[in-house]
Amino acid sequence: MQIISVKDYQALSLQAARLIGAQVRLNPDTVLGLATGSTPVGTYKELIRMCAEEDLDFSNVTTVNLDEYYGLAPDHEQSYRYFMNQNLFDHINIDKEFTYVPDGLSKDLEASCADYDDLIEFLGGTDIQLLGIGHDGHIGFNEPDDVFTAGTHLVDLTPDTIEANARFFKSADEVPHQAITMGMKGIMSASTILILASGKAKASIIRKMVEGPVDPQVPASILQLHPDVVLIADEDALSELMAL
Ligand code: F6R
Repeated sequence: MQIISVKDYQALSLQAARLIGAQVRLNPDTVLGLATGSTPVGTYKELIRMCAEEDLDFSNVTTVNLDEYYGLAPDHEQSYRYFMNQNLFDHINIDKEFTYVPDGLSKDLEASCADYDDLIEFLGGTDIQLLGIGHDGHIGFNEPDDVFTAGTHLVDLTPDTIEANARFFKSADEVPHQAITMGMKGIMSASTILILASGKAKASIIRKMVEGPVDPQVPASILQLHPDVVLIADEDALSELMAL
């Protein structure tokens, strides 16, 4: 795992956007795996700026998002489809037909999860998978468990995750208790994984992810098994690492 240590959130966002921008310039047909949450918002802002001011061209880019709340419609303000439109897709020259987010209203989950995995396979995996990390080590919504789950699947969100995400809703009662998430096979099929972490609150889980054993109770620890992972983190998030 390559670790890029930066001063703060702003530097992290610039660095991540530069890497993604370089990939899109080198290969205009890039397939990007994208995340929601607070962490990538600065990266998306910078990509929007690069599109507007530096001719970064997304017209041939395909995106595949990690997850979606189960039961939320695409136009629900807290849905991840809505988040992606608001924070990125509405502001760049991407063809939304080629932006994929799991279907939160699926009536046949088994089929739609299998279709999502088929899509990722058809695309040949993502070129870059962008990830944040939950306080409990989740990536996508792969929560701590006894096993790593390979395929796209429905998950019960942990109380910790529901509480962490309540900040986006009017109250914790409104946070859906289930989500559809890409599984570990989809995430690990990326050529490069770019994981971002900012702030002291992430320091302990970053240490477990990087220096602890590979353990499904710390889902992000599976990244130790991927050949090309770049962790971009600020000094606070790296503050508990022994090796630095
Ligand atoms: C979101 C996702 C989650 C977040 C994680 C961290 O699509 O997959 O794994 O990356 O919950 O969220 P933030 O960035 O808000 O701390």
